[in-house]
Amino acid sequence: MLVVEDLHAGYGPAPVLHGVALRVAPGEIVSLLGRNGSGRSTALKAVMGLVAARGAVTWQGVPLLGRAPHEIARQGVGYVPEAREVFPRLTVEQNLLLGVKPGRRPSPGQFERMYGLFPQLAARRRTPAGVLSGGEQQMLTLCRTLMGEPQLLLVDEPTEGLAPRLVAQVARCLLELQRQGVAVLLAEQKLAIALDVSQRCCVMGRGRIVFDGTPAGLRADAALRREWLEV
Ligand SMILES: Nc1ncnc2c1ncn2[C@@H]1O[C@H](COP(=O)(O)OP(=O)(O)OP(=O)(O)O)[C@@H](O)[C@H]1O
Ligand SMILES: [Mg+2]
Repeated sequence: MLVVEDLHAGYGPAPVLHGVALRVAPGEIVSLLGRNGSGRSTALKAVMGLVAARGAVTWQGVPLLGRAPHEIARQGVGYVPEAREVFPRLTVEQNLLLGVKPGRRPSPGQFERMYGLFPQLAARRRTPAGVLSGGEQQMLTLCRTLMGEPQLLLVDEPTEGLAPRLVAQVARCLLELQRQGVAVLLAEQKLAIALDVSQRCCVMGRGRIVFDGTPAGLRADAALRREWLEV
């Protein structure tokens, strides 16, 4: 279980998170929703050790706060940043290999599982990643993190800017991870996707969680959506 309690974080003097609390269990997808600038990305970065934070963060009982990102990754935590980050001169397959845990080899069938989820990457496995489309680079970024076989996946707006068909593929991928028992914390802007794939939705506002409930609960609460989500 990921347990986040009283998480405070920000950039320099301006705090962004004012005591965020949330939980994600193995085999659960929790969406983190909120308007632009509400602090969704900052929350993921704080869990991953990428911004200074205080409070408490534990994963399977292990405290994460204060550790370096590579140490957090070693605890089975994978992070997919908002920005696509591929190595443009390396091929798709070489990019994927870089996601494997240091000192390990890809597990049997691992490439094929990625290519099964995203066949367009299979067709381009020997192609330099720099020539892929934006959407393909986004998938490659996600798949590279998955090559590390994370048990907790922090994923920041994986469907942003994707065509509907690719959005559906990403959704299928997240559901497959969930089925395998991975805990997924999904920072999302699009309410529809969050409602579709997650078991629980957390809405951020003023640096805190203002709603933590089921997709059905969020769907039913028009006033809450108006106050914290709609523009
Ligand atoms: N590197 C940074 N330096 C200073 N301020 C930042 C930095 N990154 C984000 N912020 C500020 O922190 C606040 C929260 O940003 P964050 O990126 O967490 O929001 P978000 O909910 O992910 O929104 P979106 O993804 O739509 O931009 C915003 O006011 C943003 O301007
Ligand atoms: Mg963001």
